[in-house]
Amino acid sequence: MNIVLMGCPGAGKGTQSVKLVKAFELAHISTGDVLRAEIASGSELGNKLGLIVNQGNLVPDEMMVEMLEKIVKDTDKGIIFDGFPRTVPQAKALDAMMQRLGRSITHVIMIDLPQEEVINRICSRRQCKKCGAILSVDLKNPPEKCPSCGGELYTRPDDTCKRAAHRLEVYRQSTLPVKEYYQAGGKYVEVNGNQTPEKVFEDISKILQK
Ligand code: AP5
Ligand code: MG
Repeated sequence: MNIVLMGCPGAGKGTQSVKLVKAFELAHISTGDVLRAEIASGSELGNKLGLIVNQGNLVPDEMMVEMLEKIVKDTDKGIIFDGFPRTVPQAKALDAMMQRLGRSITHVIMIDLPQEEVINRICSRRQCKKCGAILSVDLKNPPEKCPSCGGELYTRPDDTCKRAAHRLEVYRQSTLPVKEYYQAGGKYVEVNGNQTPEKVFEDISKILQK
């Protein structure tokens, strides 16, 4: 099982990936997490990537494809691709890479979320530096520490309202055409992302168990 999990910023790709990894014993490849780890390392490459990612723009396709291939080669497990592909050239490169590796994409699942929900979700998101938990906080009374492990919470630099709006625009222009690419291939399914995380997970699980 190799799944492309699509959705706009804040749709719940990361939240669902955590659940799917546990339930279906999959490897989770989030290109956003890969990029943030490189940025946090303070490397020369990380500094260059930070200038792009923190403004909500896309990293060039060739760079992303090269980074991804190394990670895919390292795992024999089924994979959830979270945040990749984000452009039609990336989708084509993924198909070609999987074919070279004797694998294929089995499911393309779009978590559909109304745009009016996006900014609210992104502005309320906090992530734990220690355990990586993705939280949705009450902005009037945000917790100081992670409720699960007591770790420090942080806000992603691209999670300001202005940058979230820009990311949504980038998504509309560059990533929505990927939906059409996959619709033509017949593996594309949508789930309603505007339900509880548990219900979204139930809907995705049903698709994967068919
Ligand atoms: P990336 O990290 O992939 O960001 P994104 O696509 O904008 O998606 P998010 O991580 O913001 O949202 P999500 O769908 O994971 O939602 P989450 O589960 O956290 O990419 C970041 C950047 O990296 C890009 O902008 C780009 O610069 C670069 N990049 C990455 N991949 C690239 C590529 N392939 N090519 C080029 N550049 C690339 O949930 C959001 C919030 O909602 C949380 O607070 C959560 O608790 C809450 N929530 C989740 N589900 C629900 C629910 N059902 N109900 C209520 N609240 C919910
Ligand atoms: Mg995410």
